[in-house]
Formats: sequence, structure tokens, C-alpha cells
Amino acid sequence: MTGKNILVLAGSTRRESLNRKLASAVATQLIGKGMHVTFLDIAEHDLPLYNGDLEVQHGIPDTAHRLHEAFRTHQGVFIASPEYNANVSPIVSNAIAWVSRVQKDGGIQSAFGNPVYALGSASPGGFGGYRGLMALRNMLELGLGARVLPAMVTVGMAHEAINEHGQIISPMPRQMLDRLVSQLDEALAHCVTNNSPTSAIA
Ligand SMILES: Cc1cc2nc3c(=O)[nH]c(=O)nc-3n(C[C@H](O)[C@H](O)[C@H](O)COP(=O)(O)O)c2cc1C
Repeated sequence: MTGKNILVLAGSTRRESLNRKLASAVATQLIGKGMHVTFLDIAEHDLPLYNGDLEVQHGIPDTAHRLHEAFRTHQGVFIASPEYNANVSPIVSNAIAWVSRVQKDGGIQSAFGNPVYALGSASPGGFGGYRGLMALRNMLELGLGARVLPAMVTVGMAHEAINEHGQIISPMPRQMLDRLVSQLDEALAHCVTNNSPTSAIA
């Protein structure tokens, strides 16, 4: 498993975000398996709330173009997304909405149709954000034609399941993570895209 470029996106702007910790743990695991990881913290990529009038008047924000570039230049994209009211967090949904409006450089196909997507969520609740991930899967697969791996990582009681060193210590999410990494490895072994990271998010 070498030479695969994976974008790992932390989909929360909260300072003590559990999903940022999950994203870091996933990045560490992928690096350990020989993959090249680019870590993207959505907190560092401000986007206005999507509004059609704003788009008409001011165009698509540079940040959305940079996110589009980040998505399309990686072979795999892992998104750690919080669950809000059993649904996709507004921050992740908003970012995806803006990126889906980019039409140049291959538009939706290059950003969502080419990379392999993998999903995870961390929550203090018992379900670990599973319902939000199903909604995110729906958005990516049905809305944007993405290929989303069947395996997902959900970390319930994440404030206890992730230790102070950022390691996932609960057995179940660790197993889920192993399964996800192995599916990603398998999917990318047959990947025919020649996506390669650029300076998009440096
Ligand atoms: C408006 C709102 C709705 C939420 N709904 C859910 C929910 O449906 N399921 C869940 O497990 N957690 C829910 N939570 C709790 C979040 O999962 C929790 O705040 C989590 O830590 C957010 O992710 P972060 O730590 O990465 O910022 C909700 C939180 C907020 C503010």
C-alpha cells in the first residue's frame, strides 16, 4: 500500500472538536499504512453560508475553489463529520454545497466522482454520529455521484473513546477503522484516476 494520496478533512470548527481528533487518528493510521496524507481543517477555511444571490453577485469564494482543488487532486477523501440532529453538520453541508457549485476543472465529476470517499464521525452520544453519516452518504452518493466505501468509523462516547494523546482506545471503533483502511487500500489498488495533490491547501 504505497503512493496513495488521501485528503483527511476535519469537518468541525470547534476548538475541542472530537471530529478533528478522529480525523487526526485516521490520518495517523493511514500514514502508518504508507499512504500520503493531506490534513485539511475546515476551521481554517472560512466559507459564507451558501446563498444563490451571493453566488450571483460575488461568484464562488476562493476557499470553495481551493476545496474543490483539494478534493479533485486526491485519490481518496476521508471526512470526519459531526452529527447534528441526526443529520449532516451544517458546516460540512455548506462546504459541500459550495464545492458542488464549482464548474471549472471538471466540476462535480472531478471533485466527487473521481476520488474514493470514506466517512467517519465522533460524538459524545451512543450512536457515534451514525445517522449523520447515512445522511452524508446520501448527499455524496445520490446528490453528487460519489463512490463512498461501505465501511465507516463511528466513535460513540468519543470524549472517553479517544484518549488525551488522540488515540482511539475503544475496541469497536478501532476495528471499524481497520476495516475502513483495508477497504480504502483495496479500492485504491484498482483506482484508475491520476489525481495527485497540488498546493491547493498548503
Ligand atoms: C444542534 C446540535 C445538534 C446535535 N445533534 C446530535 C445528534 O443528533 N447526534 C449526536 O450524536 N450528537 C449530536 N450533537 C452533539 C455533537 O455530536 C457534539 O457536539 C460533537 O462534539 C460535535 O462535534 P465536534 O466535537 O467535532 O465539534 C448535536 C450538537 C448540536 C450543537
